[in-house]
Amino acid sequence: MKLLVIGSGGREHALVWKLAQSPHATRIWCAPGNAGIAEERLASNASIVECVSLSAEDLPGLLQFAEERRPDLTVVGPDNPLGMGIVDLFERHGRRIWGPNQKAAQFEASKVFAQRFMDKYGIPTARASAFADVKPAKAFAETLGGRCAVKADGLALGKGVLVCRNLTEANQAIDKMLVNGIFGPAGKRIVIQELLEGVEVSLHALCDGQVFRLFPASQDHKRAFDDDCGPNTGGMGTFSPVPFLSEAELKRISRLIMEPWLKGCAAEGIMYRGILYPGIMLTDSGPKVLEYNARFGDPETQVYLPRLKNDLVELLESSISGTLDRHELKWKLGTAVCVVMASGGYPGSYAKGKVITGLAEVASWPNTKVFHAGTARLADQIVTHGGRVLGVTAWAENLAAARQAAYHAVDKIRFDAAHFRRDIGAKAILA
Ligand code: AMP
Ligand code: GLY
Repeated sequence: MKLLVIGSGGREHALVWKLAQSPHATRIWCAPGNAGIAEERLASNASIVECVSLSAEDLPGLLQFAEERRPDLTVVGPDNPLGMGIVDLFERHGRRIWGPNQKAAQFEASKVFAQRFMDKYGIPTARASAFADVKPAKAFAETLGGRCAVKADGLALGKGVLVCRNLTEANQAIDKMLVNGIFGPAGKRIVIQELLEGVEVSLHALCDGQVFRLFPASQDHKRAFDDDCGPNTGGMGTFSPVPFLSEAELKRISRLIMEPWLKGCAAEGIMYRGILYPGIMLTDSGPKVLEYNARFGDPETQVYLPRLKNDLVELLESSISGTLDRHELKWKLGTAVCVVMASGGYPGSYAKGKVITGLAEVASWPNTKVFHAGTARLADQIVTHGGRVLGVTAWAENLAAARQAAYHAVDKIRFDAAHFRRDIGAKAILA
């Protein structure tokens, strides 16, 4: 099979790496890909993955490429093309593509839609309301004592959530979105949620429109600095599974959160084929959904796929064709840890073009994989080319050993002003 993967981050590197292991894959293109993706080889015939310089948001260009090269399957990584309707477009042109269609992708593309859906189908979530006008929004924030999350309705590069701890902050956040328009059209409507306290976990479920298969839980570290300080980022590191959630608890969460979701989808005529990734807060009064994502998490994918035993091509095919009931997910024992190495300054402004060293040495280590995100090749060197640069991943028999292995690799890799957290998974070991 010929495959086209869309995206350029660490998530897409992990997807390509895993797809390349499948005996079904005979050719892989990635648009636009990155320097690490361009080094992957297919297990079936040792051919190299070809990066194509087309943006993940250039839907007409991607369709034209697919019509010319005729991949048997296109796999969509990021949220934006899904929200823009790439799946509907490809399907209209008879091209096989994996990911939720535009209606289904609304779970991520519209927080107002997601909140109304959760309220309608009794899915545990924060107390919340949607607004387009400042006055009622501020009145609602006041009923929460200003302790709230103010969220832009639409996609905002993962930055559309402002967490507020008092009324001054809440009023400022509301003004920023509804008056100053800092998120443009994405912030024309907002959702205000009560602030939830607890431990956050990521759930992933592969869906085929009828059934779902839940992954083990994982945990991301969203803040830039150790001990959960500093600004929110796209994610600074993950581990999976999480030792503080038993199988039984995960089943209970799935019953509370996934089953009403699936019923709601059937009632609303939503055929959800893809990954549903709910972000969950484990609160004193039970698990609550903070938000939905309609795709694999980044960097959650980097800790899931090294442990997944199934053939990913077969799973994605079954998700499209509605035959997921014939598959059980199988996972390697142990734990995976991913430490993100970012450019100094991220998530604010940062320099690019810093030479990265140490990659060749780590590439030969067992149970270790460096997934590239913001990297580029410059002559015979790999240089930084984005905020999140690398996802240094290792897997071992338990969390402590996997952490140690991941940080051992991190310590070998160097680039000017590299920044990473030292405490990925540390709290879960102490707990
Ligand atoms: P989201 O993109 O909606 O997941 O929000 C980004 C981050 O903001 C989440 O990962 C949480 O850390 C935080 N957050 C979002 N909503 C809430 C909430 N209702 N209570 C507390 N923290 C939240
Ligand atoms: N891990 C955060 C995200 O993928 O949205």
